[in-house]
Amino acid sequence: MVREHQVSTNDLIYPMFMQEGKNERSEISSMPGIFRYTPDLLIREIELCMKLGLKTFALFPKVEDSLKDPLAKESYNEKGLYLKTIKAIKSELPEACIMTDVAMDPYSSDGHDGILKNGKILNDATLEVLGKMALAQAEAGADIIGPSDMMDFRVGYLREMLDNQGFEDVSIMSYTAKYASAFYGPFRNALDSAPKAGDKKTYQMDPANQAEALIEAELDFAEGADFLMVKPALAYLDVIKLLYDNYELPIAAYNVSGEYAMIKAASEKGWIDGERAMAEALLSMKRAGAKVILTYFAKEFAVLSNY
Ligand code: PBG
Repeated sequence: MVREHQVSTNDLIYPMFMQEGKNERSEISSMPGIFRYTPDLLIREIELCMKLGLKTFALFPKVEDSLKDPLAKESYNEKGLYLKTIKAIKSELPEACIMTDVAMDPYSSDGHDGILKNGKILNDATLEVLGKMALAQAEAGADIIGPSDMMDFRVGYLREMLDNQGFEDVSIMSYTAKYASAFYGPFRNALDSAPKAGDKKTYQMDPANQAEALIEAELDFAEGADFLMVKPALAYLDVIKLLYDNYELPIAAYNVSGEYAMIKAASEKGWIDGERAMAEALLSMKRAGAKVILTYFAKEFAVLSNY
């Protein structure tokens, strides 16, 4: 009765990976319990998760190397894996809330979130690609668009484009304060999306910076974001709290792949109690002010809540 905070399946978004093929799933070696699913199995898995009480799913595609190019053209191919699968999910499970990822990296032969030219990211040219991608996702049925690329002015650009094309009701969950973090390692393995050269430090944030998160939040707020996200979560609880104290918009925390992997690995070794560590970590994000948590623990949490 006197607990100040609690975590419920209503708060959670389940990030899931998809791959080409049929009736197959491959476990991500650095993320025990997390799989890349072929579209048919992904739909069944989402259906099962909905029975467990989850409602929202953030989807990421593993794109074949042969389809990657410097301009990420596959990202708006409506016959491609990602958009086709989203359409199929929305027609079979219209109540599933689908969040899409807007960034070039899964489709880019350079493995960067923006267009690379002579070792530099072209911010404004990238916006055009992101716009085509977001529009194609909205047309496929996406409910929430998640720009994870960290280009400047992409929220305003995407909002205007979606509004102009009749998608006023598609929300934008901006990756507002996304840090250049070591904790994304297992995710990049899952999608084979690591940068081929260089790093993401010219567009993702310096882990040393806190005030900069307020600047990013101010821009996203002004440009029309519906949610402000902080990523990663555990090493950035102060940033979650800072945005929570300064904005009325719902704050989302992305409990990223490396944070999941750490708890899983220590728990497999018998060094910590994995279930308790999971619950405690999720609770810390709520305590810091997160309304929404994207977490690979979502299904496990939901299973335990259904006991
Ligand atoms: C890239 C993207 C990343 C994640 C989500 N979208 C990784 C990156 O910036 O390389 C990471 C998620 C995770 O680690 O769980 N657009």
